[in-house]
Amino acid sequence: MPVPLFDTTTTLEPLQAQIDAAIAAVVASRRFILGPQVAAFEDEFAAYCGARHAIGVANGTDALTIALRAMGVGPGDDVIVPSFTFYATAEAVPPTGARPVFCDVDPDTCCVSAETVAAALTPATKAVVAVHLFGNLAPVREIEALGVPVLEDAAQAAGTRSEGGRPGALGRAATWSFFPSKNLACFGDGGAITTDDDDVAAFARMLRFHGSHDKVTYEHIGYNSRLDELQAAILRVQLPHLDTWADGRRAAARHYEAAGLAELVSLPAAARDCEPAWHLYVVRSERADELAAGLAAHGIGRKAYYRLPVHRQAAMLDIADGVKLPATDALARTHLALPMSPVLQAEQAGEVVAAVRAVLG
Ligand SMILES: Cc1ncc(COP(=O)(O)O)c(C=O)c1O
Repeated sequence: MPVPLFDTTTTLEPLQAQIDAAIAAVVASRRFILGPQVAAFEDEFAAYCGARHAIGVANGTDALTIALRAMGVGPGDDVIVPSFTFYATAEAVPPTGARPVFCDVDPDTCCVSAETVAAALTPATKAVVAVHLFGNLAPVREIEALGVPVLEDAAQAAGTRSEGGRPGALGRAATWSFFPSKNLACFGDGGAITTDDDDVAAFARMLRFHGSHDKVTYEHIGYNSRLDELQAAILRVQLPHLDTWADGRRAAARHYEAAGLAELVSLPAAARDCEPAWHLYVVRSERADELAAGLAAHGIGRKAYYRLPVHRQAAMLDIADGVKLPATDALARTHLALPMSPVLQAEQAGEVVAAVRAVLG
C-alpha cells in the first residue's frame, strides 16, 4: 500500500461546501483587499495564538522581513538565524539592510537553543529568528534571557502547544506562512505576523500597506503585502479545525512509535513541555539516502528537505564565509521526512515502518 508524504485532501473534503460558500460570498461582495474577512481572520487568529494582534500579509517570507523591520532591525544590524531551516528564514534578512548570522541547532530538537544562539552573538546583534522547525518548539524565553529580542518563525508550527503558551505569543513577534502544504493552509500564498507589542503591530500594518495609513501619505518605504479576502475567508473555515488536525498529527507520531520505528532510526524529540503538531515527521539515519531510495521503491513518500543547509547555498556563501555548524551539517546529511498528516492511520504507519525495516533491517 503506497503512503503519500502528506495528505492535504482528506481533511478538507468535509469542509469543501463551506469553503465554496465562503469563496462565493467574497466574490459576490466584490471586496477583495483588506476587507471584513481579513479583519475577522486577524482577530480570530490572534485569539487562537493568545496574542494581542495579528496582521495578515502576502506570505511567510514577507512576514519575516516586515516583522524584523517593525522590530527596529535595519542597516548595520546582525540577525541570528539557523541554517537548518527553509531558505526564506535567512533570505528575509538582507532586504531589511541587516546581515544574517548563522547559528547551529540542537541536534535533538532541530531548533536553535540558548547555547547555539549565544555562540553566534555579535556586538551588532539586534534580533534572533527562532524557527519552530518541523512543528517543534525553540526555547524562546531562554534565548530572550540572553538579552536579545526573538522573532519566532512559526511557519511550520500551527497547532503546536506548550506549557508556556502557543507559538505566536512567546517572543516579541512571530511570523506565519499559510502556504498550501502548511498545517493551516490557504489556496495560494498567505502569511501573518502576530505580536503583543502595539508598536510592532502598528508599524507592521503600515509596512504591509506601502508604509502608509491611508494610501495618500507615505511615511515609510513599505511593501504591497496583504493577505487577501479570499484567502482569509478560506482560512476562517479551517481555523476551528486546526487543533483537531494537530491532534491527528500527534496521533500519527504515536502510531510510528507503536509500530517500532525507533528500533530502526532516530525519532524526532519533542522540546521540553511541548506538544508539537508535527508539520513534518523527520527521522535521522546515517543511511538516509539509501533509506530514501528504498522507500521510493516501496511507494512510500519521503523527502530530504534541507540536504544543503542555508549557509552552504550559493547565494549565502559570502555572508556565511568561515561559518562552522557541525550539528547542522550532520542533520542535513542524516534527516529524512516520512509521511505525516492529520489523518495518517496506524495501518499506514505500520506500512511505512515495515518498508523502513525492509530497507535498513
Ligand atoms: C520555516 C519557514 N520559514 C519561512 C517560510 C516562508 O513562507 P512562504 O513560503 O509563505 O513565504 C516557510 C515556508 O515556506 C518555512 O517553512
